[in-house]
Amino acid sequence: MILSSSPSPWIPTLLLLLLSLPILFLFASHMFPSPPPPISFPDELDDLSLFRRAAAAESNPTHKPKSRLGSTNSKPKIAFLFLTNSDLQFAPLWEKFFNGSKSNRNLYTIYIHADPTVKTKVKPAGSIFSQDRFVPAKKTHRAAATLISAARRLLATALLDDPSNAFFTLISQHCIPLHSFQFFYNHLFEVNSHQVAELRHLKYKSFIEIISKDPNRWERYNARGKKVMLPEVTFDKFKVGSQFFTLTRRHALMVIQERRLWKKFRLPCLRRACYPEEHYFPTFLSMADAKGCTGYTLTHVNWTDTVNGHPHTYIPSELSPGLIYSLRQSIFVQPYMFARKFSPDCLQPLMDMADDVIFRD
Ligand SMILES: *[C@@H]1O[C@H](CO)[C@@H](O)[C@H](O)[C@H]1NC(C)=O
Ligand SMILES: *[C@@H]1O[C@H](CO)[C@@H](O)[C@H](O)[C@H]1NC(C)=O
Repeated sequence: MILSSSPSPWIPTLLLLLLSLPILFLFASHMFPSPPPPISFPDELDDLSLFRRAAAAESNPTHKPKSRLGSTNSKPKIAFLFLTNSDLQFAPLWEKFFNGSKSNRNLYTIYIHADPTVKTKVKPAGSIFSQDRFVPAKKTHRAAATLISAARRLLATALLDDPSNAFFTLISQHCIPLHSFQFFYNHLFEVNSHQVAELRHLKYKSFIEIISKDPNRWERYNARGKKVMLPEVTFDKFKVGSQFFTLTRRHALMVIQERRLWKKFRLPCLRRACYPEEHYFPTFLSMADAKGCTGYTLTHVNWTDTVNGHPHTYIPSELSPGLIYSLRQSIFVQPYMFARKFSPDCLQPLMDMADDVIFRD
């Protein structure tokens, strides 16, 4: 046999190549995951009917928030919208945040959108993260338009649920609070200012980051194909901003009623660097009411040495009171109120400094 007498030099090479093929495939599929499926028509219809119900309730005078009309029976609340595709890893810390004082009880509401394909541990009844706080959810994909849908579903549910919800704060499972609830509440509603309630409502703004100068903007603008965003969104109107915002009720309502831009932003991305959820909200709100937005977010993110679109994730050895103090500092009017991302094993060290550091302000 030819093989045994004089082994051809290319046989080992060929074997090696054959052996490495599956590894190459694995590597490639990891590097270039297949794009998420487009949003289905039934899913879209479901959302539309929810958004319509929320908008209709808003124009019904009996659903108007009492506080807006000047009667002070019910204080305005902050709706916390938890958007998660894993377990709520910092639930005990958030419970401490909300439980801080008995008088907080009527000043917040909680809504959770948990990816239904991921097992989320159900918290005991009576807990602030109990089953009845979960809103009807659909599967989300990283860096895809499904994250916009999920955020809009949370906004619509919270609008419908409680007319006293005046601000809507989006939080992820990697976010932690940097201040007490009372501190956050007082800052949003400017409780210490001497203006009368009605006047204060008029000047409430949404805390949403709106950036025009970003090196990736052109690439992301064209991520669905050249000229696809036209004519609705010209390049100069295409903005970048953090997915994590605090919106006023007025803006929350505008966002769930928006259809024009959504038709473009929901289109599947042809490139990986797309991140619709970081563009849709800042682009729409800057077009619709730039003056009603602060242009910055209240959630601190550390983008130093970003890997694969992920920000720096803090690990336990980095945690200290000094880190919390430095994460709070911002160049804007308001200090940062929240921060991300933190690895799950940060929970215990964070709990250990909760009373003396995080919630002391
Ligand atoms: C917060 O309050 C809820 C309900 O009163 C209680 O079940 C929960 O154990 C409390 N959590 C903390 C961390 O104090
Ligand atoms: C941001 O992350 C980098 C590492 O990626 C770290 O060196 C730096 O200290 C972090 N900044 C803050 C304010 O924590």
